[in-house]
Amino acid sequence: MYSVLLPIHIAFVGVWLGCVITEALFERALLGKGREQELSLVALHKRVDLVVEIPAFVVVLITGLMMYPVSSITGLIHAKIAFGLVAIAVNAYCVWLVFKRATAATTDNWDEFTRLDHKQHKYGAIVLIAIIVALCIGIYAYAGGM
Ligand code: HEM
Repeated sequence: MYSVLLPIHIAFVGVWLGCVITEALFERALLGKGREQELSLVALHKRVDLVVEIPAFVVVLITGLMMYPVSSITGLIHAKIAFGLVAIAVNAYCVWLVFKRATAATTDNWDEFTRLDHKQHKYGAIVLIAIIVALCIGIYAYAGGM
């Protein structure tokens, strides 16, 4: 079971990280380019969250939880899991902000849109950093055999 879960776990970490970076890129490409582009942006980000981001971090969480009881957990892996759980929790909050921001945009509440947008980008940066730190710890643990 473990030999199947670990590659799935790491593959979906890759999907998740790729998704977060791609979102950051299309956010930069469309934000501040006019209301039409921002309406497309909020709709696109919601859809990507639903179809790619949420499934990816849920699979990382479930495979991680399934491996936990059958793994020899070191302090390093615990640190990795801690950063991983922070990334998942903050990402869930970001998804909520993305949906709230879309509602603000589609109801012409652009002040609220701007407020939520700033928050979303601040927390989005935390997600990206936490995933990268967890991945570095995980690769180090895997490579070091710890
Ligand atoms: C950003 C999130 C995450 C990343 C980048 C990540 C990355 C990794 C990597 C690279 C490994 C292989 C390390 C090794 O085999 O020694 C691994 C293993 C593992 N991960 Fe994650 N992980 C994340 C989240 C989680 C979460 C949330 C959990 C638990 C709830 C978890 C539980 C585990 C377990 C139990 C192993 C097997 C450890 C072992 O057998 O040594 N991971 N993860």
